[in-house]
Amino acid sequence: MSQTLRDDDSVSNPSTHDHLHDLVERAVAAQPSRRRLLQAGLGAAAVSFLSGMPAALAATARPAAAAAAVAAERMLGFQAVATATGDEVVVPVGYRAVPMLPWGEPIDARGPAFRPDAGNSAADQERQLGDNHDAIEFFGFNEARSGFGNRSDEGLLVINHEYINPEYFYAPDSDPADWMKPFSLEKARKAQAAHGVSVVHVRRNAKGEWEHVKASRYNRRIHGNTPITLQGPAAGHPLMRTAADPDGRLALGTLNNCGAGRTPWGTYLTCEENFNGYFGWTGDRKPSALESRYGLSRDGAGYLWHTVDARFDLSATPNEPNRHGWVVEIDPFAPQSQPAKRTALGRFKHENAALVIAPDGKVVVYMGCDERNEYLYKFVSAGTFDRRHPTSAAHRELLGQGTLYVARLDAGATAGDRMGTGTWIPLVHGQGGLDEAHGFTSQGDVLLRARQAADRVGATMMDRPEWVAANPRKPGEVFLTLTNNNRRVAEGGSSNLADGSTAAGSARPAVDEANPRANNLWGHILRWQEAGGNAGALSFTWDLFVLAGQPGVSGARAPSANINAGNLFNSPDGMVVDDFGRLWIQSDGNFSNTGDYAGMGNNQMLAADPASGEIRRFLVGPSGCEVTGVTFTPDRRTMFVNVQHPGELGNHPHAPRRADGKPYTDNDIARDPTRFSQWPVKGMRPRAATVVISRVDGGPVGG
Ligand code: FEO
Ligand code: CA
Ligand code: CA
Repeated sequence: MSQTLRDDDSVSNPSTHDHLHDLVERAVAAQPSRRRLLQAGLGAAAVSFLSGMPAALAATARPAAAAAAVAAERMLGFQAVATATGDEVVVPVGYRAVPMLPWGEPIDARGPAFRPDAGNSAADQERQLGDNHDAIEFFGFNEARSGFGNRSDEGLLVINHEYINPEYFYAPDSDPADWMKPFSLEKARKAQAAHGVSVVHVRRNAKGEWEHVKASRYNRRIHGNTPITLQGPAAGHPLMRTAADPDGRLALGTLNNCGAGRTPWGTYLTCEENFNGYFGWTGDRKPSALESRYGLSRDGAGYLWHTVDARFDLSATPNEPNRHGWVVEIDPFAPQSQPAKRTALGRFKHENAALVIAPDGKVVVYMGCDERNEYLYKFVSAGTFDRRHPTSAAHRELLGQGTLYVARLDAGATAGDRMGTGTWIPLVHGQGGLDEAHGFTSQGDVLLRARQAADRVGATMMDRPEWVAANPRKPGEVFLTLTNNNRRVAEGGSSNLADGSTAAGSARPAVDEANPRANNLWGHILRWQEAGGNAGALSFTWDLFVLAGQPGVSGARAPSANINAGNLFNSPDGMVVDDFGRLWIQSDGNFSNTGDYAGMGNNQMLAADPASGEIRRFLVGPSGCEVTGVTFTPDRRTMFVNVQHPGELGNHPHAPRRADGKPYTDNDIARDPTRFSQWPVKGMRPRAATVVISRVDGGPVGG
């Protein structure tokens, strides 16, 4: 819809200072050895990977010395790639893509090698990269290589490991009908070790290739059993206490680490999303309203941990789930430091944490709660950030105290124009019905039960809030991916009840202006502008940046005008705005490439111009994957992108079939793990990995 596209060109011409800076950087970075693009990353594996790329790319590799002649950076300065369904990463002509750091890679020089038969033990896994990479952030070293700084040639990659795919994660056991059985504590421990976060020391070597610095004290795994401080107003709450931690101030582990964020003081924020799936219970038990509201169930998501590990059995440890669902702050430059769960940011199914410094120095963190018909939140710190001393130790406490808000979106002055106004409603004990009369006993209680608090104050139910991305080039402009929602109806329906008693995902709200499509198959991206360009403001205006879909569809399900045959996608998820103001969009959707999803192919990554609304496909991922997480070196010459769950069978057009014609089951693929995908290492089972993307001419990625 053209009316959804804001007429604003304020980000299309970033300052000329940046262009000059870029030219100088390019000249300095010129390295003839960049010709050797086929020898990077995983060696032979990288060659096989690259063999799937356009032949012209390898043949036209030229020294970066020519980069000084590269034209000034453009918002969308690359040639769009076509949709694809192959088992490879596709990038534009003139780009190269090299995988590194796959699941199971030793975290350091002492870590055990990955076993191709998935036979590594739990103890091995604690010293290896985790599984299913999601968010990623690059933290450059300072000039002295002693801490956080602005280097683009050496730094720490911090990577989330969201979950495991059991069919590839476990070597088949003795039960022919179920490769996971008999399940054991050792198997649960191995899975727990594959969750969490990896901190990986990387540098660009003399050949211009990125390598893992294995003999470094910074390499670190944080996983499902790592001690983590519970900090902030909900720490010590009675619902946080367990027999193992009677004070409620020390949790074990971080799980389902989905999106992330970063602070200007050099720390990483990992976000705990679908933590509920790891828990279950044995015997008869009726879930409480709180447990239902957060989606806890008897069988969980099928991980089976609760059957062998009492910590995950609510019959034995009912408060353990309350210690999950938080944002966790990690200092990657202090390998001995204990991470902290920042309870002031609220407990829900956190997607990511997009941090902005408001004009008055308050730290603002935007966060989505990813489930059907859940909410959009933001945190505003009590203290202020000192721009003159960004790495000041005092900043370490800024996420410890502040106010959590939840968004209400209204139709605005004109009904039906898919634009409107919004309000940030505080979730503060004693305000808006968040009081004893309605069962809220303290501020810690409000934060621990943030979903129920948001129900009480009348927040707007959204179509699965995924990543939030703030535009550094336009103060107050923020984007939110709403990935899809099959539980919204055209009219009537039901809402999350104000008393907090609605089970997770069970409401069926009617369409509204911000979520305008019933059974939203393809998803959309909401954009808002904070009042006065101030991230700390309590009101905003909003519009819809894009409605994904099929151009041939008209009426209520029609896509917006910036969707065309060349940029089809569904289910936007990962998203970030780079320092140039370019909006990067990643998808985690239906990859069947048929019916409603025809022409969309494998999951992918696109770039958009926030001012014009133009969207162009930049990358296509391998078979069965999701593309998620993206970060840049400060010079933007290197982009790191994660490929998650390659080889997921789903309804992929090339998914294998059995002799009887029936689709492969998980038990089938577990016993034939190279049959569908062999990304990123030819001949081996598929593994999540990071992809290093750069321009052959050494210019800024995307420009
Ligand atoms: Fe982990 Fe909502 O994606
Ligand atoms: Ca309106
Ligand atoms: Ca996601």
